[in-house]
Amino acid sequence: MKILAFNASPRKSKGTTDVLMEAFIDGAKKSNADVDKHHIVDLDINGCLSCFTCWWKTPGVCVHRDDMDWIIPKISEADILLFGTPIYGRNITHYMQRMVERTFPLSLPEMFATKDGQTSHPSRERKIPRLVLAATCGFPDLNNFDIVKALYPTALPILLPASQMLSNDEGKEYLSDFLDAIRLTGQKMVEGDEIPESLKNKLIVEYSDEMKSTVIKTHNLYSASRME
Ligand SMILES: Cc1cc2nc3c(=O)[nH]c(=O)nc-3n(C[C@H](O)[C@H](O)[C@H](O)COP(=O)(O)O)c2cc1C
Repeated sequence: MKILAFNASPRKSKGTTDVLMEAFIDGAKKSNADVDKHHIVDLDINGCLSCFTCWWKTPGVCVHRDDMDWIIPKISEADILLFGTPIYGRNITHYMQRMVERTFPLSLPEMFATKDGQTSHPSRERKIPRLVLAATCGFPDLNNFDIVKALYPTALPILLPASQMLSNDEGKEYLSDFLDAIRLTGQKMVEGDEIPESLKNKLIVEYSDEMKSTVIKTHNLYSASRME
């Protein structure tokens, strides 16, 4: 089973999004997954020019010659596409958005009405990888992920608010069940198992009001200590 993973945080392996991604990968490797992970900031990805060349002049091939040349065929080969993104301005980062826009060559120009009353383009490829989306944010409230959830309704969400919790041992301990749930999910997905609702629920961290107050206090103390 092939996993293609992209981290859209500029903090790369030093960030918190990567901790979630690595937990998934850790579990997946227990089931012998073939994992190929990249940090988007290290890649050369130009912005889409909206020239539609990939639809009508050279079907499936973009005018840009950059890292998307190898990424597009790899997406078609992957069984699982794992995206990790921090929330910036309540949305995915522009690093991820740029890459997503450049997957346009994977769609065909035709429009069709979907079963749920929407309109879409068919995929150029027969195989579509399962999408797993790991996202982190700084505020303790889950509504920071509303846009991401609306953007990718078919993705399996792994969501961590107040991700700064991962920067100390106490927070890591508090989140150990969450990290274990991510590992188990990675392992199960590679084994082809359905992910039960009980496990899916553990992939989304929700804090009590008391915990949210603690997050706010801790943040403000830390922030004040950093002022120069
Ligand atoms: C430019 C910028 C915008 C951000 N916007 C939000 C936001 O809208 N909501 C939120 O909860 N956190 C926001 N954050 C905090 C990040 O989502 C959070 O620190 C994230 O976990 C960082 O991920 P990383 O450690 O993988 O880089 C923002 C951070 C930056 C730098």
